[in-house]
Amino acid sequence: MDFENKNVLITGASRGIGKATAIAFAEKGANVGINYKSNTDTAEKAMAKLAGSGHYIFQQDIVENDGPEKLINDFVSHYGKLDILVNNAGISIFHTIDEVDFDHWTSAWENTFKTNLFAVSNLCYWAAKAMMQTGGGRIVNVSSRGAFRGEPTKPAYGASKAALNSMSQSLAKALAPHKIYIGVVAPGFTETEMAAVTLTPAERENLLRESPFQRMAQPKEVAHAILFLASEGAEYSSGTIIDVNGASYLRS
Ligand SMILES: NC(=O)c1ccc[n+]([C@@H]2O[C@H](COP(=O)([O-])OP(=O)(O)OC[C@H]3O[C@@H](n4cnc5c(N)ncnc54)[C@H](OP(=O)(O)O)[C@@H]3O)[C@@H](O)[C@H]2O)c1
Repeated sequence: MDFENKNVLITGASRGIGKATAIAFAEKGANVGINYKSNTDTAEKAMAKLAGSGHYIFQQDIVENDGPEKLINDFVSHYGKLDILVNNAGISIFHTIDEVDFDHWTSAWENTFKTNLFAVSNLCYWAAKAMMQTGGGRIVNVSSRGAFRGEPTKPAYGASKAALNSMSQSLAKALAPHKIYIGVVAPGFTETEMAAVTLTPAERENLLRESPFQRMAQPKEVAHAILFLASEGAEYSSGTIIDVNGASYLRS
C-alpha cells in the first residue's frame, strides 16, 4: 500500500489506535494531520513518532458546534486538499442500567452520541464537500465489535457504533457517484496504553479468554485494516465493515 503525498486527517490520533494509524500512514509516505481534543503533550509525542516530514497537529474538539467544519477547513487550508479522513476519535462511558440514576443514564447517552455519531456525521459532511471539489476521496470510520454483540455496561456505546455502521453504509451509497469511498473497521478489545493501565489482572484474563488467539488486538493490527480500506484498489469494498476481533465474535 502506497500513500506517497496523500493528505490524511485522523481524529483522536494522539494515542491508541489513532496514533498507530498515524504511524502506519506516515511509514507509507502520507502527510498526516493529527487531531486531538485536550492533551497537547501526548499529541506532540505522537507526532514525534511519525516517519518523514509534512505532518501537522490540529487541536479541535470535534463535538463543538462548528468543530467539524473548522477542522476540515483548517486541514484544507494547511494542505490544500483532503485525500483521506479517518474518523477514529470515540468515547465509551459506563452506565449499567440497574446501577445508575436517570441523570447519569441520559447524560451518558447524550455525550456518547455527540462524539461517536453526530460529530462523525458532521465530519463526513464537511469532508465530502471538500472531497467533491477535488475529484473524490476516502473515509474510514472506526466502529466496534460492541455494535454487534451487545454492550450491557455501555449500551449507548454499542448503539452509537451500530448507528455509525448504518450511517457509513448509507453514505457509501450516496457518495460513490462522487468517487468518495467509505469503509468501517470494527475492532474488538485493543491493547492501547489506556488498556494497559486500567485493566485489573482478572479483567485482562477474561478478555484473553474471549478470543481463540488468547490475546487482544494490537493497535497496529487495527491500523492495517484502516489502511487497506483507504488504499488505492479498495474502492469496490466501499460500504464494507471489517472485523478486527481475533474471531472473538463472528457475525453472519
Ligand atoms: N481500544 C479498544 O479496545 C477499542 C475497541 C473497539 C473500538 N475502539 C474504537 O477505536 C477508537 C479509538 O479508541 P482508542 O481506545 O484508541 O482511544 P483512546 O486511547 O481513548 O484515545 C482517544 C483519542 O480521541 C481523542 N478524542 C476524544 N474525544 C475527542 C473529541 N471530542 N474531539 C477530538 N478528539 C477527541 C483523544 O484526544 P485527547 O486525549 O486529547 O482527549 C484521543 O486522541 C474509538 O472510536 C473507539 O470507540 C476501541
